[in-house]
Amino acid sequence: MTDRTAVIPSETAFEQHPLRGRFNAAFFHVMDPYIETSLREHKRRAFADLPEEVVEIGAGAGANLPYLPHAARLIAIEPNRYMHAPLRTAARRRGVRLDLRDRTAEDTGLPDDSADVVISSLVLCSVRDPAAVLTEIRRILRPGGRFCFVEHVVAESGTPTRTAQRMFRRPWAWTFEGCSCERDLERDVRDAGFGEVSIERYRIHTPFLPFNTQIAGIARA
Ligand SMILES: C[S@@+](CC[C@H](N)C(=O)[O-])C[C@H]1O[C@@H](n2cnc3c(N)ncnc32)[C@H](O)[C@@H]1O
Repeated sequence: MTDRTAVIPSETAFEQHPLRGRFNAAFFHVMDPYIETSLREHKRRAFADLPEEVVEIGAGAGANLPYLPHAARLIAIEPNRYMHAPLRTAARRRGVRLDLRDRTAEDTGLPDDSADVVISSLVLCSVRDPAAVLTEIRRILRPGGRFCFVEHVVAESGTPTRTAQRMFRRPWAWTFEGCSCERDLERDVRDAGFGEVSIERYRIHTPFLPFNTQIAGIARA
């Protein structure tokens, strides 16, 4: 039987950094419209028909609030406290009932089988242990519930994007709080024990070359 218990406690899974924490909160707040332009069509598919209550891991400054239905309740798992003020403001503006938890995706504190839908965008690249997070998502999803995601992933080997990912991996990870541009997250999701998984691979075109290879999809518990 698969062990469905996450093992990494919150305090070891995320380091609150005063400088980079603030920088990332400001960066994603300011860059949100630009990132959205590249991701919108993929998010529309992955985040279609969300129910009134959604759990989001790594909700950041609220990039995915526009995909929630009117008057939705969002349980947001967000360990970077510098993201909390912009997220609260954005949720108020959009009329979303925000239940913000200062926890990590490895250890959400939510009960077993309690969520119909968990969403994420650009988060599995940043968590310390994607497999532990996927185990935690499966634990909190009800049977038949869905995990909807949009993530950036490692490029095919031998491509210029892959070379750029290798070259920039250290400054990239340092700047973006541990974000890896070299993760095969499609494999991680497929190996995580979900019942049914559908994943679309695509490429976007931004000057942030390591970020341009992406996946979006839905995995059912
Ligand atoms: C690249 S940002 C993306 C934010 C937002 N989802 C978006 O699309 O704009 C990564 C987010 O993941 C959060 N994060 C990092 N490690 C995490 C963890 N272990 N558990 C939950 N969230 C985490 C960061 O604080 C940050 O808000």
